[in-house]
Amino acid sequence: MTATPDAKPLKGLFIRTYGCQMNVYDSERIRDVLKPLGYAPVEAPEGADLVVINTCHIREKATEKVYSELGKLKQMKLASGGKMTIAVAGCVAQAEGAEIIRRQPAVDLVLGPQAYHKLPEMIARASRAVGDRLETGFDTVEKFDALPKTREPDGPAAFVSVQEGCDKFCTFCVVPYTRGAEISRNVDDIVSEIRDLASKGVREVTLLGQNVNAFHGPAPRLEGGADWTLGQLVRHIARIGGIERIRYTTSHPRDMDDDLIAAHGDTPAMMPFLHLPVQSGSDRILKAMNRGHTADQYRDIIDRVRKARPDIAIASDFIVGFPGESDADFEATMQLVRDIGFAVAYSFKYSSRPGTPAAEMHGHLSEAVKDERLQALQSLLRDQQTAFNQAQIGKTLPVLVTGKGRNPGQMHGRSPYLQALHFDGTEALINTLVDVKIVSASLNSITGEHVRAREPAA
Ligand code: 5AD
Ligand code: SF4
Repeated sequence: MTATPDAKPLKGLFIRTYGCQMNVYDSERIRDVLKPLGYAPVEAPEGADLVVINTCHIREKATEKVYSELGKLKQMKLASGGKMTIAVAGCVAQAEGAEIIRRQPAVDLVLGPQAYHKLPEMIARASRAVGDRLETGFDTVEKFDALPKTREPDGPAAFVSVQEGCDKFCTFCVVPYTRGAEISRNVDDIVSEIRDLASKGVREVTLLGQNVNAFHGPAPRLEGGADWTLGQLVRHIARIGGIERIRYTTSHPRDMDDDLIAAHGDTPAMMPFLHLPVQSGSDRILKAMNRGHTADQYRDIIDRVRKARPDIAIASDFIVGFPGESDADFEATMQLVRDIGFAVAYSFKYSSRPGTPAAEMHGHLSEAVKDERLQALQSLLRDQQTAFNQAQIGKTLPVLVTGKGRNPGQMHGRSPYLQALHFDGTEALINTLVDVKIVSASLNSITGEHVRAREPAA
């Protein structure tokens, strides 16, 4: 056991994170919440005092992984003589609640995404074997208020949650049930979190929300206090000293308003990358999904975004094999992909989720059909991704250096288009912005030569 300068004993904390960037952010905040209690992160679950599994419920596979992981942890807990505390957090915890403890009694605590600020209290109760081991309330505002006001960033890029939950109720999706109704944080809190991060060297922030462009948080009191849109928030954050790059994810086509689109063109800190899930290119399927837009409306949004920022990288999510999807519907998705040209995309086989309307629909497709369609779509998307990466060869791009690469003398960073990038350079460049000339590209990364350091933008 190690000791802090004031000789408080440290307890080992291991957090395993599944799922989306919101969970990555939540895991960071769980770490912050537990720090004052003497918990310090460790690299492996073996021997940890507290293991938190931050779970994802979006597809069946993600959920099943949780139970196999818990089986392994149970063995470790036995080996530790019962010393290890096991907590299940996140969306599976929210959806399945006490069922988790019934299925795996080695689990000590279950807490949903809006309850992790209560973790210290729950740990104390568990150690005295009194009170509730389950917290799955929905008070997002209380959570944000209760979280520590300062954070220790991991590097020059940080996630900042600005909005949570979803009221869109796409018929395939569990998020409205696990993350609850849509709520936005207030602008003052967001700005003070970002100022704190900037003072600790953060240069790039990614604003997070399940429906981030539905953001409608109360403005600073000095500005009148009425709700702001994401476009207004972005322009405001761009003025915070030290913040040179702003991203946001994930957005919904229905909330892509004119001001946000304009901000892509007129706000230099706004990075040329837009993750705008479309899910399908067939109007019939989009309707059955309750997406609230057509394929042509999506094309039109992308046209307008590209007018504002011609070099923007467009990313998306797709679901193949939604109930009732015909060959013609799938072909409409392939055509939309050909029409738009994506820089990167995530594609999934439809996974039936209990409690969602689509689970009850007719026309569920066989795994074989879903597999075939997924392969065809992914092959097209891979070609587009490779082409997008290769189109950067010969250009000089501003790169935020995030750490060391895999090979000696190699550094790693992110291009404006969110591509993973490697170049030969020294460790002194880490956490800075540099210009890199791109010399080669593959499906998943691009490689370049360091040209020069960049002065921070005025
Ligand atoms: N089956 C398959 N994919 C899903 N997604 C959400 N729900 C499901 C489901 N039931 C995908 C969507 C979403 C991404 C986060 O996960 O594409 O945008
Ligand atoms: Fe799920 Fe649709 Fe909400 Fe996205 S917009 S979180 S896919 S319900």
